[in-house]
Amino acid sequence: MDTYKIPVIAIDGPSASGKGTIAQLVAKKLGFHYLDSGALYRLVALKTMQSHTDIHNTDQLAEIARNLNVVFKNEDIYLDGTIVTDAIRAEQCGLLASQIAAHPQVREALTDRQRAFCQPPGLVTDGRDMGSVIFPDAILKIFLTASAEVRAQRRYKQLKEKGINANISDLLQDIKKRDERDSNRSIAPLQQGADAQLLDTTSLTISQAQDAVLSWYNVISAKNPRLDK
Ligand code: DC
Repeated sequence: MDTYKIPVIAIDGPSASGKGTIAQLVAKKLGFHYLDSGALYRLVALKTMQSHTDIHNTDQLAEIARNLNVVFKNEDIYLDGTIVTDAIRAEQCGLLASQIAAHPQVREALTDRQRAFCQPPGLVTDGRDMGSVIFPDAILKIFLTASAEVRAQRRYKQLKEKGINANISDLLQDIKKRDERDSNRSIAPLQQGADAQLLDTTSLTISQAQDAVLSWYNVISAKNPRLDK
């Protein structure tokens, strides 16, 4: 039987590659839902800090992940009723998220919550294991990356625009440390799957990267007319 399949576009890639920006733009363009899976790991990190939980206590970390009281509303993220949209973007939160994300129990505790975002008419999601683990049936899988130097420059510019002081060589070091940890962990490591398209944005503008994703999707949806309904 010809059944409707909810289209998922899974964009995985390293820290500060711009995958979140591209994923959001593509979701908006297609009228799809959007899931920033990294935000969930960052929320667990924030809650861990707030509750002074030992980051080696995996049972307690998994408990935090399972019971996260989070609401995504418009552009904002609420944790226990408080807006934490900017708080979770802090470098410290990202680094802790990367450490916490290496625990299998934490990943397991977040799996169903992520899959629940797959709703009609479709989903665009970004992270590290969206195409490999969470949405293995995604109709389009993309590995979006850029050189570590360009990623550090982009992060630097972003922070400057927010009025936050930053040092570019510290940012580059943090990015490399995070790449190393996210790529070499034993569970759901960051890597380009054999079925994922490579999108290197080192010398692309945001609009060029967005167009590349949309044109891949258009080719796929033209071959599967039921996807767009
Ligand atoms: O994408 P991000 O920088 O917001 O993610 C923060 C950390 O969360 C990242 O260093 C690794 C972890 N993460 C993960 O392990 N799996 C995901 N799908 C998303 C993020």
